[in-house]
Amino acid sequence: MVKAIRGTRDLLPPDTQLWNRVETTARAVFARYGFGEIRTPIFEATELFVRGVGEETDVVSKEMYTWEDRARAASEKAQQLTLRPENTAGVVRAYIEHKLGETGQLQKLYYIGPQFRRERPQRGRYRQFWQIGVEVIGPPSSGSESAIRDAEVLEMLASLLDELGVKGWRLALNSVGSSSDRPKYLAALKAALEPVKATMCEDCQRRAETNPLRVLDCKVPEDQATIDALPKIAEYLDEASQQHFAQVQAALDACGVAYEVAPRLVRGLDYYTRTTFEFTVPDGSGLGTQNALLGGGRYDGLSEMLGGPKAPGIGFAIGEDRLILTLQAQAGEAAANKIDAYIAPLGVEQNSAALALARQLRRGGLSVEVGDGSFRLKKSFETADRVARRVVLLGEDEVANGVATVKTFATGEQSRVVLGELVSALSAA
Ligand code: HAM
Repeated sequence: MVKAIRGTRDLLPPDTQLWNRVETTARAVFARYGFGEIRTPIFEATELFVRGVGEETDVVSKEMYTWEDRARAASEKAQQLTLRPENTAGVVRAYIEHKLGETGQLQKLYYIGPQFRRERPQRGRYRQFWQIGVEVIGPPSSGSESAIRDAEVLEMLASLLDELGVKGWRLALNSVGSSSDRPKYLAALKAALEPVKATMCEDCQRRAETNPLRVLDCKVPEDQATIDALPKIAEYLDEASQQHFAQVQAALDACGVAYEVAPRLVRGLDYYTRTTFEFTVPDGSGLGTQNALLGGGRYDGLSEMLGGPKAPGIGFAIGEDRLILTLQAQAGEAAANKIDAYIAPLGVEQNSAALALARQLRRGGLSVEVGDGSFRLKKSFETADRVARRVVLLGEDEVANGVATVKTFATGEQSRVVLGELVSALSAA
């Protein structure tokens, strides 16, 4: 038997109902903040991610699904293509390609879609996973660099998580400085790593040479004490970056959004500048060790790295799979969502009348299932009780008199209702 590939999943009802609710809520919240949807291709030139996300990141060096797309004609060249491991690089590519900066306006974009990373699959970590993300980007004259944009994005996230009913989330916040602060910090980090790197894990030894910042997101337990003793990026921020970070915090304080400053939070992608953040949920929220619900930050130099104009930006991506796992774990055994009515025809002769009645009720806005006249009454009742709040019995006598017998399971109440009044009778709580 052919099975789904390891790390990929089928999403089935009734779970998809929650996925849809989450996406509908996200779209509604984003609309209130003036965001519009962008849909970019699922595969892009490999070079986009190498340049944008960074060659030394885990994502690019170990996790991308890349292949050579053969030329189909002599006039074509073979191309290295990659299934997108994240969507910020693709959105910024689209921003540059469609010259969105020339409008002079701030672009507020959101996306919902699958991403692909060849990670070791476990609970909350998949090879095809979904992200709900936003990017706010524009020329500096549009105010894209302002700390108020950072705070607004974070406040929107807090509102979205609250509206979805996520309990106990925490916001970890840091600033990784600008491209001018970075070289000073990197030099200090390199110098501090020199005498200790031999004691660290293999990945850290390599990163200490190639990309010392990545050492800070090492998860190997034995390395943690060494890493905690390394210089902190906060000590190397220039005046402007310090001020920017202070403004973000002041605006969050004014909005009443709680956060903790996390000096080691540098995130796993190379494009970040200044503000970086992650939202986590408490242990026992269904995520196992993968407690980062979402991550994001500012990427003021990314557009230039991809050959575009100066276009500071900030954004985030929620791991939708993780959000769903959290909501399911936190809801516990939530009451199953029942439909309004189950129509039970009493005898196959009543099947057509039952279907016609279902049509009328569904057009009236009700959610309805129709059984089959060949079912025994006991089976109809059992099925109805499992899926619906009420059962509507339709026998020969009822059809002849233009009525139906309605039983409400919660109260045990039973009555005969004229067909014309069924929609309002079934809409009642
Ligand atoms: P990221 O931290 O790589 O950032 O991913 C964001 C979120 O996607 C994570 O916090 C996690 O919830 C989810 N995620 C990542 N990998 C997996 C996986 N293998 N399985 C399930 N969920 C996963 C980015 O992707 C940036 N593009 C975010 C961003 C947007 N920064 C600025 N704008």
